[in-house]
Amino acid sequence: MALKIGRGAEAPPFLVMDVITAANAKAAALPPGAPGVIRMEVGQPGTGAPRGAAEAAIRALQAGTPMGYTEAFGLRSLRERIARHYAERYGAAVAAERVAVTVGASGAFPLAFLAAFDPGDSVAMAAPFYPPYANILTALGMRPVLLPCGPETRWQPTVAMLEALDPVPAGLILASPCNPAGTMLPPAEFAAIAEWCGRAGVRLVSDEIYHGLTYGEVPETTAATIPGAVVVNSFSKYFSMTGWRIGWLVLPEDLVRPVECLAQNLFISAPHVAQVAAEAAFDCRDELEANIAGYRRSRAALLAALPGAGFDRLSPADGAFYLWADVGHLTNDSVAFCQRMLAEAGIAATPGVDFDRERGRRFLRFSYCGPEADMAAAPARLAAWLGR
Ligand SMILES: Cc1ncc(COP(=O)(O)O)c(C=O)c1O
Repeated sequence: MALKIGRGAEAPPFLVMDVITAANAKAAALPPGAPGVIRMEVGQPGTGAPRGAAEAAIRALQAGTPMGYTEAFGLRSLRERIARHYAERYGAAVAAERVAVTVGASGAFPLAFLAAFDPGDSVAMAAPFYPPYANILTALGMRPVLLPCGPETRWQPTVAMLEALDPVPAGLILASPCNPAGTMLPPAEFAAIAEWCGRAGVRLVSDEIYHGLTYGEVPETTAATIPGAVVVNSFSKYFSMTGWRIGWLVLPEDLVRPVECLAQNLFISAPHVAQVAAEAAFDCRDELEANIAGYRRSRAALLAALPGAGFDRLSPADGAFYLWADVGHLTNDSVAFCQRMLAEAGIAATPGVDFDRERGRRFLRFSYCGPEADMAAAPARLAAWLGR
């Protein structure tokens, strides 16, 4: 008799991971001396952990610190340091008791979703969107509701879109800056949406993972100001520590204990040694700000040169390190287009279908957090490939 396979097995792939595999294979097969593959597919800073963070981990290991489980919500000192970060960066009072250290932002999502929503509940989000939002909700039996957004709203939802929803969703995920478009909600629009959530009884989940990576407007945090909101953040992007797998939640009072119980059962704790490193990362501002200066230069170089290379329909690039490119004049199959770009131009980018299943056939995402010299070289390579 056939054995049952659960709904979780239906989760679609996170396609960028497949592009990474293809780009690794292409790089490994290059003959010696050939120009390398330019990696613009992945949202992973090329810089690695700041020196002070790595050294803190080394010191703790050399001192023989037994790296055991921590409390489910993380090391007390790290939670206090994160709370202080809200005071320093935003002038916001956040109690350390509301901070939960998680296994990356990725580990924060199932905790937040399980605590805040029930199977069958619908949770709205802009499309294009970060694929795991929808895939995790679906795996948990919840229903992602996609709000198709376009350049006229900076790829972000509006109150009018939310008011049109019937039934009213149980939750709304906002990300500003967002992935893949790199765009932000204007502050007044963010406030209006938050106010609508309050009125409509919709739980706001604010993914603030790209805070600190903005090139104009500086976003406010939802943590202190919006009652009931759940804030997700991580050490992966601004802090350049993807592989250390540390993120955090700032929880509203009513979800603190439920999330703690879930965290105890699902993860026990985030990795201890990585928590030690994460705490030290707050003292590495100079190095982190130097990284951002590099992103700013790469962003400027790409915005200046990509149009001449044939990519002239780009998102405004308010923050994060992504350019969302409309390539509808070049292809209606972004998967095949990205495969050819990798094979023929040696440039890896992510097809838009990862982020927007239908409309994404005409889009791709360039990530510019890789080495600055590579980002500067990319437009000329693309221009040559497209015969410009
Ligand atoms: C919008 C967004 N949220 C969450 C994550 C997950 O980050 P983490 O590495 O902290 O799990 C990513 C990673 O790319 C992201 O782009």
